[in-house]
Formats: sequence, structure tokens, C-alpha cells
Amino acid sequence: MAERIPLVIDTDPGIDDALAILLALASPEVDLRLVTTVHGNVELAQTSENALRVLHLAGRSDVPVAAGARGPLVHPQPRRAGHVHGAEGLGGVALPPSPAPLDPRPAVVALAELLTSSPVPVTVAAIGPLTNLALLQAVFPEAAQRIGRLVVMGGSAARGGNITAAAEFNVWSDPEAAAVVLGGTVPTVLVGLDVTLATVLTPDDIAGFSGSGPTGATAAAMLQQYLDHARTAYGVPGVVVHDALALAEAVAPGTLGLVRRDVVVDTGLGAGRGQTLVDRRAVSTSPTAVDVAETVDAGAVTEFLVTRLATLDD
Ligand code: RIB
Ligand code: CA
Repeated sequence: MAERIPLVIDTDPGIDDALAILLALASPEVDLRLVTTVHGNVELAQTSENALRVLHLAGRSDVPVAAGARGPLVHPQPRRAGHVHGAEGLGGVALPPSPAPLDPRPAVVALAELLTSSPVPVTVAAIGPLTNLALLQAVFPEAAQRIGRLVVMGGSAARGGNITAAAEFNVWSDPEAAAVVLGGTVPTVLVGLDVTLATVLTPDDIAGFSGSGPTGATAAAMLQQYLDHARTAYGVPGVVVHDALALAEAVAPGTLGLVRRDVVVDTGLGAGRGQTLVDRRAVSTSPTAVDVAETVDAGAVTEFLVTRLATLDD
């Protein structure tokens, strides 16, 4: 087997974040070296506690968790997503507390130290608001340039928004941070609503791992809240696990159909705030272009997710 790729997940757990972390732990292609947490679905203290508990659930409390930004760079954005993820952020499922404490380092320091010390390129999966990644670029630009591949769950090319008509939640939570990160030269993949909304885990898919053992059963239990929300909010009999799709691309490059595009983030204060304006008129050759996920084989990806998650208790 090829060398495992060092992986960092920057996250705001979050039900789909939890599934993404579990997918990474079930993927032999990657070595999860660090989890950094950020404000988002719930407050930072809760996202950090949730990250510790999800790692402990999977028997991986050895993976360090470093807390990052508790809010966006510029304009306050207090609206959370408790109505989707539950007040504590994990679908009402109370996971046992981890014996591991938070890493004492701030997220950007932990991330910069890992990037600087790694002899091989590191993949970073950013599946929450991009505040930590923007701060990394500002405080440790040399370390940021050492990111081998940045896979971002966020934005939308042609599917509008999910938190507003125009904006997807992660970008909307900190548009200025998204503009910095998506305007940089780090090789970046943008996994947006165009492909995540097309990839639905049905109750039958979830049954494919719910019986595999305690970890699979707990993952399924967390998704129940998502199922209930999806049914009432979208009228669909399934769950959209946005972050898990981004992690599928991070652990298995080529999972999604990517096209290099110029992307601009609306950082205005009007109705379009947080919108990702993706120029689909041409394939971009700009050094700041982003590899935008525009196509997905939803059947193949859901099978990949279910198969991997079913190995969690092996
Ligand atoms: O829009 C989906 C994103 O917002 C996901 O990362 C989900 O966890 C929420 O943070
Ligand atoms: Ca998330």
C-alpha cells in the first residue's frame, strides 16, 4: 500500500462533520494527524467537545484536537444551525466524554507546526467556516503554502444557498475568510451544494452500517435527527451528508468531477452576502483558480461511504 497521506480536518461538528471524521478514520489512504475546530453549527466550545467525543467514540482519542476561532473575521454572524444539528450539535446523541483534553495550542499554531514539520504534503479538509484557514494564511503564510491539497466543503456554483437564497452555510458564516482562502494559491477543491445535494444517504444506506457495531449504530443514531430535518425541510427521504462527501474526495482524489474555475465570494452586506460566484463560462488558467466539484456519481459515492462506515467496528 502507498504511504498514508497526512490529513488534517478543520471542522464544526455537526452531524455531517462527525460522519466525515469517522470516514477519515475508516480510510486506510489517510493518517488523521490533527483535528482543528471552529465556530459554526454550534459554538466553538461545543464543536471542540464534539470533536473530542467523536474521536473517542471511534477509539482514536490519540488524535489531537486544537480549538480555533470562536467567531468570524469581520462581521458577527451569531446564527447557528442547532435547528439542523440539534442544540449540542450531534443530533441529540450524548456521546461519552473523551479522556483526552484539548490540545493547549491554538488551532492555527497546531496546524502551522504540523505543516512545517511534515516531510510530505498534508491534505487539509475544511468542512466548517474558513476562519481558521484564513488566520493561518495571515499569521503563518509559509506554513499555509505547504498545504498539499485543501478540500473545502462550501459554496455553490449553480444551486443557490441553503442558509439564505444565495449562500451556503460555511461560506455565509465567514465570507471574508472564504474570500481569503478561495482567493489564494494553495491547490484547492471546492465541494459545494451542486454535488452534495445530489448525494443522498437513504434509510437503507444508513442500515448498511447501523448494524456493524456500536460506532456504526451511533453514527446512524446521529443521522436520525438529520433524517427528520431533511424530511420536513426538503421533503426528501434521506440525508445530505455534505462534509462526508468532501472527505470522500479528500481520501480518494478523483471521486468528484472537478473543473478549474475562477471563484469570487460576495463579501457585501446585501442579500447576496456569502454567495460564491463561480465563473462557468470557461476553464480557468489563473493561479488562484479553484477546482470546483461539478459532477458526482451519487450511487458510487454512497456505496463508498456505506462500505467504509461499515468497517468502523472492525
Ligand atoms: O452547508 C453545509 C455545511 O454547513 C456543512 O459543513 C454542515 O456541517 C454545516 O456546517
Ligand atoms: Ca461542517
